[in-house]
This record gives sequence, structure tokens and C-alpha cells, in this order.
Amino acid sequence: MAKRKRRSPRPLQVEASYPPVVPGLLSPTRRIPAEIKRPPYALTGQPPPANSSLVRTPEELAAMRRTGAAAAEILLRAGEAVRPGVTTDEIDRLVHDSAIEAGGYPSPLNYRGFPKSVCTSVNEVICHGIPDSRPLADGDIVNIDVTFYREGVHGDTSATFLVGDVAAESVMLVEVTLESLDRAIAALGPGAMVRDIGRAIESHAMKHRLGVVREFIGHGVGTEFHSGLQIPHYHDRRLAIPLEYGTTFTIEPMLTLGSPDAAMWDDEWTAVTIDGSRTAQFEHTLVMGENGAERLTVTESGECAHDLVRAAVLSR
Ligand code: MF3
Ligand code: CO
Ligand code: CO
Repeated sequence: MAKRKRRSPRPLQVEASYPPVVPGLLSPTRRIPAEIKRPPYALTGQPPPANSSLVRTPEELAAMRRTGAAAAEILLRAGEAVRPGVTTDEIDRLVHDSAIEAGGYPSPLNYRGFPKSVCTSVNEVICHGIPDSRPLADGDIVNIDVTFYREGVHGDTSATFLVGDVAAESVMLVEVTLESLDRAIAALGPGAMVRDIGRAIESHAMKHRLGVVREFIGHGVGTEFHSGLQIPHYHDRRLAIPLEYGTTFTIEPMLTLGSPDAAMWDDEWTAVTIDGSRTAQFEHTLVMGENGAERLTVTESGECAHDLVRAAVLSR
């Protein structure tokens, strides 16, 4: 039998040490006005079994463009609010109020019991951080993951923002993670398969000696927050699954400076790296078109919060 290839590089980054992120206090549950149309899980916390088609109708796709653009606007507003001293709960309030103002529902709220309207994941938190009373500190990195529901469909997008003056290794992590998402999208030409995504991300991460998180993956998205389609961010040649024209899905790589292995806080949501190393994530909702994958979570003029991060990285 052929020798098994190493799955990911031994991470070589030597990090500065930071105090660990610790849980803060949660604010009271935020309310949704009666006139906002809620997704099926909003009352019970339980989404019905995922069974929708992975391929969108033209009407659903048109709705996903509008919903995706609104999600992008909300993430831009959240990103503009990031600065030292702002609590992640204040970001939650901003996202919650922006979603309602845009006539939709903040999808995380009560999804499988998630208590807040957005995920905020600071430093060694990989994903699904719960907004709380912790103020952002100078030198932090924070992922804000916005999902917005309107016209019966979800748009899911995230970015990792620099808080104040961030150390060079963390800036590199953020920059390479964003590049890995962009490379994965660019890798999806006609005839693209699911495995092309993980191959592009893992090869770029390896070049920079970064880890690729395996426990959380991209997914089909549309009328359901998470549909049946699974999108790993690591390379697996067995995933020779064609991405059919009209399929809507996310790519949301999480890269780490150290070990990509995850542990869970007692809150049963917050995922952290086991070694406390920092981690970054970027996410878009996409549709597979004839000539490639197209970003749905961009504003009408084609902008998104990823542009803010690129500018911040370049200006330091
Ligand atoms: N937005 C996340 C994703 O990209 C999912 C968050 S689930 C929640 O898939 F319940 F934490 F909101
Ligand atoms: Co997602
Ligand atoms: Co998301």
C-alpha cells in the first residue's frame, strides 16, 4: 500500500503569547418584531430535516442575490464598528438591529438554540463564538459571521477584522486565510468538483505553514441555513462530486497559526484551538455558474467587508 501522505504541515509558527479569551456575560435575549418573517426553527430552535434541492430555481436565485447583498451590507457595517473597547455584545446589537431594519431575520438567533444574532470569534476562537460583555482589545483579531434570512433564503458571510495594532504573524494569518478563500473560488471553473476547493485552500495554507481546521466545513445554503452538501476545506481526492450549475453553497476556511485541532467550551458552541493558537476565517455564499463560482454576498456595487480587511492589511 502506498505510504499515506501527511494531511497537513507541522505548523512552524512561533507566536507571541496573549491572555486567553474567557467567557463574558450575555445580555438579555433580543426581540424580533412580529412583522418580520421568521425561519422555521425560530420558535423551537430545531430546523426541520435538511431536504431541499441543492440547485436553486431562478426565482430563489434572484432572492438569494438580494438577501446576499443585504448580508454583505450588514457585515460591512459590523466591520466598520470594530475598534478597541467595543464589546462583542455591541456588535450583536448592531447586527440584530441592522437585520430588522433591512426587513429580515438574523439567522443565528435560536438556530439550534444559539442565543445571539451573530457569531463573534476572537483570537483562538475558531468559530461560533457567542457575543458577550468582552471588550475587543488592541491587537485582537475578530471574526464576525453574519447570516441573514429574507424572502425565504439565507445569505451567509464572514470576515476576520484587525482590532487596532495587530502583530505581524496575526496579520499574515488573516491575509493568507482571505487569499485561500479567493483561490478556492478562482479554482472553480466549468466542471468544478467539491475537492477542488479543499485542494486550493490546503495547498495555500501549507505554503505558509498554517493549519487547516477539519472539524468545521462549508455547506449548501439556500432555503435552509445548512443543507445536505458538505464542503471540506482540506484536500480529499475522494470528493469527486461535481458542483452542478445553480448550486448555492458556502466556502469558509478556518486557518490556524498552530494546531488546527478544536476543543469546545462548556457553552457547547464556542470552538477554540486546543493549543490556544490564533485562527482566522472568511466566508462567502456562492452560486455555481457556467463559467465559475459567483459571489452572492457582495453589495450591489460588488463590495464586501473583505475589501476593508485587505485595505487594513495593506496599510500597515
Ligand atoms: N454562520 C455559521 C456558518 O457559517 C453558522 C453559525 S450557526 C449558529 O455556517 F448557530 F452559531 F449561528
Ligand atoms: Co456558513
Ligand atoms: Co457563516
